[in-house]
Amino acid sequence: SWTTGNVIEEQVAAIRAQVGDKRAICGLSGGVDSAVAAALVQKAIGSQLTCVYVDHGLMRKNETEQVEKDFVAATGANLKVVDAQERFLDALAGVSDPETKRKIIGREFIRVFEQAQLEILQEEGPEVAFLVQGTLYPDIVESGGGTGTANIKSHHNVGGLPDDIEFELVEPLRQLFKDEVRMVGQELGLPEEIVQRQPFPGPGLGIRIVGEVTKERLDLLREADAIAREELTAAGLDRDIWQCPVVLLADVRSVGVQGDGRTYGHPIVLRPVSSEDAMTADWSRLPYDVLAKISTRITNEVRDVNRVVLDVTSKPPGTIEWE
Ligand code: XMP
Repeated sequence: SWTTGNVIEEQVAAIRAQVGDKRAICGLSGGVDSAVAAALVQKAIGSQLTCVYVDHGLMRKNETEQVEKDFVAATGANLKVVDAQERFLDALAGVSDPETKRKIIGREFIRVFEQAQLEILQEEGPEVAFLVQGTLYPDIVESGGGTGTANIKSHHNVGGLPDDIEFELVEPLRQLFKDEVRMVGQELGLPEEIVQRQPFPGPGLGIRIVGEVTKERLDLLREADAIAREELTAAGLDRDIWQCPVVLLADVRSVGVQGDGRTYGHPIVLRPVSSEDAMTADWSRLPYDVLAKISTRITNEVRDVNRVVLDVTSKPPGTIEWE
């Protein structure tokens, strides 16, 4: 019968058989799947695994710390953190178009990750032969299946490496659905914040700032988002909501009044939705007192924000994200 204990035992044996005495790399995104995949592989091969986390500066408050501290504390994994915040900000400077932002973030991410892989290869030698990925069963069904290999090219000028390095993939979650992955993660002792994390887009807060992405705007949005998350959690609503994007309308200003003075600040949009699979969604009917608390706190605590608005659009016609 299916138990998380059986799944873990089976996968640990399978990973050991596959990797042998070679070494593996796993990219952590901050999300559930990569964290659980890494934790499983860590349990199987311990210090033969090196995890990589690219800090692109587009994460929400405390999420990078959750990976750097809590994930490492829970698993004992070797973690290489690449601080690429400046690089991403530079690449995004002056860009407002959503799809262009996505392309830039995706491109920079791959470059930084490949560079990190090459550095690990240089440090640890050619026995680094495996790449761990948190592929789930639904991912395989959607993409038409097939296990495989991943190529990285050494065109980034690290030097001293063959032209083309091929990694064999380790995909310990290939037979699992999301809820099963969460159960396995919990059994492996991963922090609740990681295991129960709601969906969050790869491009992160970069696509939740309508307008150009800057350090100041990211910091402001991070504060507003943290307040919304805190209050939703405190109200016990995390399980009812699929996700709640918090969006900064950076190119919009409206007039407000605070104390003795007129303000001219930005609106924050709350986009709580309920959904089964993100293909369609409905706006969540949140209790007014929770909305009131979030609104009061954001306008009081976040500099330059003087208005909070609620998105009451279903999907379709609206998407979940604003970009
Ligand atoms: P939309 O906005 O299309 O979002 O209704 C559907 C789901 O996908 C997430 N999303 C993304 N995830 N990269 C991702 O990894 C992206 O570029 C991206 N855009 C949207 C969104 O958060 C929602 O869960």
